[in-house]
Amino acid sequence: MSASIMYGDILAQKIRSNLKIVVNELKEENIIPSLTVVIVGDNPASKTYVKMKQKACEKIGIRSHVIELNSDISEEDLLNQVINLNEDDSVHGILVQLPLPDHINEKRILEYIEPTKDVDGFNPINIGRLSIGQDALIPCTPLGIMELLDFYGVSLRGKHAVVIGRSNIVGKPIGQLLLNKDATVTYCHSKTEALSSITKQADILIVAIGKAQFITKDHIKPGAVVIDVGNTFLSSGKVVGDVDYNEVKDHVSQITPVPKGVGPMTITMLLHNTIKAAKNFK
Ligand code: GUN
Repeated sequence: MSASIMYGDILAQKIRSNLKIVVNELKEENIIPSLTVVIVGDNPASKTYVKMKQKACEKIGIRSHVIELNSDISEEDLLNQVINLNEDDSVHGILVQLPLPDHINEKRILEYIEPTKDVDGFNPINIGRLSIGQDALIPCTPLGIMELLDFYGVSLRGKHAVVIGRSNIVGKPIGQLLLNKDATVTYCHSKTEALSSITKQADILIVAIGKAQFITKDHIKPGAVVIDVGNTFLSSGKVVGDVDYNEVKDHVSQITPVPKGVGPMTITMLLHNTIKAAKNFK
């Protein structure tokens, strides 16, 4: 059996074309969706991600602005920046790039972002709304995974979805989203005992652990659907996921590749969330 490959780059292009049309429609109503990204310090990976976000915004006509702050900024000064952005009607979406320096309480900063402008979906109000199935701004990677599953025709109702990873950014919210679509959800994490005995029960396996090529055929039921959220740069320069793709590709029914799988969907959903936030200003 050869797996069908769930390409995120193809779907991302399709969604971005549609979002560009929506941006043009909003412009006719004098609303130019706008995103402000706050970056603290000079973490090279964060800088690259922020540039990618900016470029993606510009390509579809979203106005983007980056506020670069020194790594020694105080928590209070950063909070004041967030408060100013909350009060600025020309800013529809606010994103504080993570990680923040150790002396800053990340949770406190995220709590201050106005929930209707919280395009990351990390504010506890949005997390709470998601958990009770209310309309919310939803974290971008899990939202992108749901779009992928839908586009590639994966049915969720009554299926056993196993999520490996319990981060606030991916693991917890993807579990909630799958549960809201009537999947039966099991969470596994670094302390889970007999991991493969659980993951082998999965009809849909979501892997978000950050360990290169950790998941092998021994963890997967034949014919399962596998979503790989991993993204590790090997010293060879190659990018790989958390799943040993070559080993499992003939064992599963559908799988996301790395790269060109979940990755391109994350920024696409940031564009989606920014437009959703801008619509609040209608
Ligand atoms: N750092 C790594 N991923 C993310 C993300 O999705 N949002 C923010 N704000 N920071 C990140």
